Amino acid sequence: MATHMRRHLVWLSIVVIVLAAVATALGRAQEPTVADVRARSPDVMRGERLYAVCAACHGVDGAGRAAGEIPAIAGQHVGVLTRQFVAFRGGVRWDVRMEHASQIRQMGDAQAIADVAAYVARLPVTQGNQRGTGEHLDLGARVYAQRCAACHGARGEGRSIGDVPRLAGQHHAYLQRQFLDVLEQRRPGLSESHARVMRGLAQPEIDGIADFLSRATSGG
Ligand code: HEC
Ligand code: HEC
Repeated sequence: MATHMRRHLVWLSIVVIVLAAVATALGRAQEPTVADVRARSPDVMRGERLYAVCAACHGVDGAGRAAGEIPAIAGQHVGVLTRQFVAFRGGVRWDVRMEHASQIRQMGDAQAIADVAAYVARLPVTQGNQRGTGEHLDLGARVYAQRCAACHGARGEGRSIGDVPRLAGQHHAYLQRQFLDVLEQRRPGLSESHARVMRGLAQPEIDGIADFLSRATSGG
């Protein structure tokens, strides 16, 4: 190859690398934090329109799918929705479908996240979700009261202060899968202290807690 050709190629590669770096930096700069989202005042009407993207999987009512693969999100606390959404975007919570759905191209900036979260939080909590078999229900209720209720609430209603997720009315299989994901370290966004609480549980306890929560109704 002629020397001048080679020199062209070198320059071309440099230009491509620099452009890629600039694009990455711009992408990062646009990535909103939880605090950015909280600072916006939500437009619920716009959130309803934006929710069309989410409805494809989570359903128009936010009930997810009863088989438990897609969680119910209706009525979840605004702060919890925001934190989970930002976690998927930031790569600290893993799921190819959600990572794609939460990308900038799909969901825009902090304002869009604030809008859609406000809309989802106002949807009535899901009824008729998938429940467990009842086999370990009593055990689950007892262990839940001892180890989880202080934070997640006596009826699994969660708390908006501290962004503690509502777990009541969630699909049984989804809850079980989340517990497993924590145990197998696929939820790096959850703190080590939380992972430790979960690691202390035996399989029947996990099953029973998920069953208890799937039947819990936290009202509104
Ligand atoms: C292509 C399907 C798909 C689309 C579209 C989608 N989601 Fe999801 N979503 C999922 C799946 C699957 C999960 C569960 C991921 C996991 O197991 O960790 C999830 C999880 C979530 C969670 C976490 C729930 C929890 O209990 O922790 C929230 C919040 C959420 N989605 C909100 C949204 C919003 C808001 C939109 C629209 C902007 C959206 N999703 C679009 C499939 C989707
Ligand atoms: C000290 C308070 C505390 C205790 C005790 C606690 N949790 Fe949590 N839990 C949280 C908070 C806060 C989050 C949200 C963390 C985040 O996503 O940033 C959470 C998240 C979760 C999630 C993930 C929800 C989702 O899909 O995003 C599950 C499932 C869960 N907890 C179950 C349990 C169970 C079961 C117990 C009892 C064995 C328990 N927790 C005990 C505070 C607590």
